[in-house]
Amino acid sequence: MRLESWFSAAAALGAALAWLSLSNPLTPARAADNPPPKPKPAAAAASKSPARYVGSKKCASCHEENYGRYVKYSKKSRSYRSIRRMQRGLTAAERRDCYRCHTTAYGLPGGFVSLAETPHQQNVGCEACHGPGSRHVKSEDKKDITRQVPNQRCKSCHVSARIKAFHHVPLTYGGAH
Ligand code: HEC
Ligand code: HEC
Ligand code: HEC
Ligand code: HEC
Repeated sequence: MRLESWFSAAAALGAALAWLSLSNPLTPARAADNPPPKPKPAAAAASKSPARYVGSKKCASCHEENYGRYVKYSKKSRSYRSIRRMQRGLTAAERRDCYRCHTTAYGLPGGFVSLAETPHQQNVGCEACHGPGSRHVKSEDKKDITRQVPNQRCKSCHVSARIKAFHHVPLTYGGAH
């Protein structure tokens, strides 16, 4: 049920759908097979402003534990360092290619642009998995954020070539935070 209502919300939100289709190529097909019910007036009103990415620090005040564990234990929370470590040998174009996996939401509304403009999005943050958080941060409503992270979402960054290159073991859902 939650998943379905999420899908209908996604259909109402162009940007959210774009994010989802990035994360899960199956979704558009599913939405077409199964047209979502017409949004209720409240949902229609809410869909006026699609969610933007806001950065992990904005999540910290309400999700102190998740945030604390993430910053302490997850290498993602320091993923820009990996670009730094190698950046001397990289062309500008190569460095930009690193951004799509080592920063949050590169090229998306509110996502990473550059270290100077968007330092708060330089690492892979909460929203890389949970989606853009601006609406949820204001509403505190769980309908405005994605809890389940489709495996496909992980795979958009954990591509097999990359996994091989770093001898990565198969992933599970554990260890996010
Ligand atoms: C102002 C407080 C507040 C902020 C800021 C906030 N959240 Fe939440 N979040 C909540 C509350 C409250 C819930 C529980 C809602 C419920 O159970 O109905 C929640 C639930 C969630 C859930 C679980 C949703 C579910 O379906 O169970 C996720 C994931 C989440 N938040 C992620 C985030 C992320 C990522 C950010 C930062 C972009 C963030 N939150 C910022 C208050 C906040
Ligand atoms: C936006 C891209 C992106 C997404 C989405 C993503 N990851 Fe990662 N992940 C990374 C990067 C980049 C690193 C390496 C960070 C570094 O060391 O620079 C990493 C590291 C890891 C690690 C290594 C251990 C550690 O402490 O961080 C695990 C395990 C992992 N990711 C699991 C997952 C899982 C499971 C998912 C999906 C639920 C996921 N990742 C989604 C980019 C991503
Ligand atoms: C398609 C997504 C993707 C792209 C593009 C990408 N990375 Fe990564 N990178 C990852 C993931 C995922 C990991 C974590 C691998 C693991 O631990 O399994 C990682 C790990 C690393 C690590 C090892 C970190 C450690 O301490 O183990 C370095 C260094 C690194 N990347 C640098 C870069 C640089 C520099 C670029 C750009 C030239 C780049 N990456 C582009 C996904 C990507
Ligand atoms: C690598 C992907 C990933 C990242 C990054 C990530 N999460 Fe999660 N998060 C998950 C997964 C997977 C679950 C479990 C979903 C489920 O099956 O219930 C989850 C669950 C949650 C929940 C609901 C359950 C609980 O523990 O209360 C909250 C709240 C949450 N995450 C907040 C955050 C916040 C805040 C951040 C950033 C500090 C963050 N997450 C970063 C993948 C991620």
